[in-house]
Order: sequence, then C-alpha cells, then structure tokens
Amino acid sequence: MKVLVVGGGGREHALCWAIAKSPKCAKLFCAPGNAGIADVAECVNVGAEDIDGLVAFAVDNAIDFVVVGPEVTLVLGLVDRLEEKGIKAFGPSAKAAVLEGSKGFMKDILAKYNIPTAYYGRFTDIEAAKAYVTEKGAPIVVKTDGLAAGKGVILCQTNEEAYAAIDSMMTDQVFGSAGNEVVIEEFLEGEEASFFALVDGERALPLIAAQDHKAVGEGDTGPNTGGMGAYTPAPVVVPGMIDHIMDEIVAPTIKGMASEGCPYKGVLFVGLMIKDGVPKVLEYNVRFGDPECQVLMMRLKSDALLALVAAAEGRLDDIDLEWHDMAAMVVVMATQGYPGSYEKGTEIKNLKEADEVEGVTVFHAGTKAEGDKVLASGGRVLGVTAMAPTVAAAQKQAYKAVGTIDWPEGFCRFDIGWRAINR
Ligand code: AMP
Ligand code: GLY
Repeated sequence: MKVLVVGGGGREHALCWAIAKSPKCAKLFCAPGNAGIADVAECVNVGAEDIDGLVAFAVDNAIDFVVVGPEVTLVLGLVDRLEEKGIKAFGPSAKAAVLEGSKGFMKDILAKYNIPTAYYGRFTDIEAAKAYVTEKGAPIVVKTDGLAAGKGVILCQTNEEAYAAIDSMMTDQVFGSAGNEVVIEEFLEGEEASFFALVDGERALPLIAAQDHKAVGEGDTGPNTGGMGAYTPAPVVVPGMIDHIMDEIVAPTIKGMASEGCPYKGVLFVGLMIKDGVPKVLEYNVRFGDPECQVLMMRLKSDALLALVAAAEGRLDDIDLEWHDMAAMVVVMATQGYPGSYEKGTEIKNLKEADEVEGVTVFHAGTKAEGDKVLASGGRVLGVTAMAPTVAAAQKQAYKAVGTIDWPEGFCRFDIGWRAINR
C-alpha cells in the first residue's frame, strides 16, 4: 500500500513511525513532515491546509490510503475530496468534523443524545450572553464556537471576568470569526483525561486513555499550550470506566452523528472531566491528540496501518488490538518563549544520543533539516518519549534522554506525570 500522512507535528511523526512498521506499507509519504519524519517517510512540500495540493499529490502518486493528522485539514474537507477521487482516507468528512469545528454543534449533539456534559448556552448576541452569565454565576467558562488553535477557552472565576471574555471574543474579535458565536458553560471540577476510540461509521473500538499537561509551567501553572507532555495509562480512568465511557458516551455519539446525517469515521478524541469516578465530556476532537498520540503509538503492539484502514473501510469488527502492558510518557521540549513569541532556527544537538537511551524514541514536531543539522522551527519542537513498566520508570528514562540533548534555547517541564506518580 502507498500511504500519505498529512501533517508535520509530533503526532504525525508518531503516526509515520507506527505505520512504517507495517508489512503492508510499501511506501510512505508525509506532507509536509519534518526533520524527524524524514527518517521514516519521504517528506513532500505540500502544506496541511493546501487541500488542492494534497489531492493532486495523492492522485499523481497513486496513493492508496491517506491518514489525516490535524483538525483543520479535516474541517477543510480533505477526506471528502479524496473520496470523490476514489482514494481512501482515515478521518471524518467535513460535515462530521464539525464536531470539533463548532463547540455549539458538539454541545447540541451531547444534549440531544443525553450524554453527560456541562450545562451550556449558545449565543450570538452579546447582551444575551452576559445575561446568561448573570443568571448562572461564576465560576463559568466562555468558549469561542469556532476553532481558535486551542486558545478560545477562558475559565472565569468571577462574573466580571466572564463579561470581559465575552467582550474580547464578540466585540474585539480577538479570535477572529471563531468568536462570532460563543458557548458559555458550567465550570466542571475534577481530573481530566483524554480517551480515544477508533470509529468506522457504526462501530467503535476503544483505544487507551492518556493524560496530558496543557499548562506551560510546572505544577500546571501559566498559560495553556498545545500540550507539554502526556502519559498512559491514566490512573484516573480505572479499568471498569472504559466500558462505561464506550456505552454512555462514545456509542450514543456515533449513533447520534449517524442519525444527524453525518456518520463519524476516524478517531474520536473524548476530552473528559472525571469527578468521584463519574466522567463527563469536556469536548470532542476529531483527530488524535498531540502529544497523546506519541504515547498511544508507543504502546500499540498491533499493526497501526491495518487498524486505521479497517476504520476507514467500515470493518472494525475485523480488528482486535494488542497493547504493550507498559507505561509510556512523552516530555515536550519547546523553544523558550513558547506559547508566546520565540526565536526560530536554533540548532539542536545530540539527538542520536537521546534516541539511544533505553526505551526512548524522540519524535520531532517543529524541526527542519539544514544539511546535517537539525534546527528548531516551531514552538513545540521535540517529544521525548519513553516506554517502561511504570509511569515513574518511563519518566526517569524520558528525562535521562532530555538530559543528553544539547539545545540551550529549548526548555521542558520537569514534572510531567506528577498526578499519576503522586497517586
Ligand atoms: P478545550 O479546548 O475545550 O479542551 O478547553 C481547554 C481546557 O480548558 C480543558 O482542557 C480544560 O482544562 C479547560 N476547560 C474547558 N472546559 C471546561 C469546563 N467546562 N470546566 C472546567 N474546565 C474546562
Ligand atoms: N493535547 C491536546 C490536544 O491535542 O488537543
């Protein structure tokens, strides 16, 4: 099979790394890829938002199967465009990707199909939005309806903060048109986890749960990022809870999406808030998490490509997944300044030494090759990933590898996994 992976982050490096191991993968391309992906796939210079370019590349190169990493590519409809050309792809149609593309749509699906989540209201009118805040009272959460690169969520401790959040989104348009509509919802307390399931339109196959650290600073402080690290298993998702999540959350969502005329295919990323053993949905994403994907792919023992193809072909019944009975952790190394402004083009050395630490694979995110050198080209740059018998042991190996990397302009959090380890 000739396979194309779309994207160029750590998630896509992990996907390429897993897919390249499949005996069914005859040739692997990645668009646009990065310096690390170039070790396992041929990188092609087409961006993840260049839908025409991606379709043309897939047609010209007789690609058999396309795996889409980022949500924006899905929301822009790449899967629909490929299917029109008879090319199979992993990921939802544009219509189904609205589950992530519009938080209001997502909340309506949850409400209509009785799936546990925070109470909410949808607003296009500023005064009505503020009146809802006055009625419900803080703490409360204000979100842009549309995609805002993970930044359109403001947790408000007072009513005044919530009024200001509404003004910033709706009047000042800080998040552009994403904030033309806002969702205001209940502030949920508890512990978060990311749960993943493969979906083939009708059936779902559970993957595993992970926990990520969104905040940039140790102790989960400071501004939110795309994710500074993750680990699996997530102890807060106790074994019996998976059946509950599949029956009460994933199954009704898939049924609901089919009834709404937008059957869901791909991976369903369920962002959960768990309190006293009860999981509620915080949000859905229509793609793998980044950096959660890195630890999922490390623990997956089965052939990743066969599983993704089965999901795309509506054949998940044929698949039985095996996992390494181990823990995995990814520590993200980012350029100093991230998630604010940062310098590009600094050199990273000793990556080979890091890869040689037992149990460790370094996935690249924002890197680019220049001759023999690897340069940082983004905010999140590396995902130093380790697999070991326990979360504590994986943490030890990951930080050992971090210690070998020579990159003065980079930083990481040194407490990834604290919740699991302190438990
Ligand atoms: P989202 O982009 O919707 O995942 O939100 C980003 C982060 O904001 C989540 O990972 C949570 O930490 C937090 N968050 C979102 N919604 C809520 C909520 N209703 N209650 C408490 N925290 C929330
Ligand atoms: N790590 C969270 C996300 O991918 O949205």
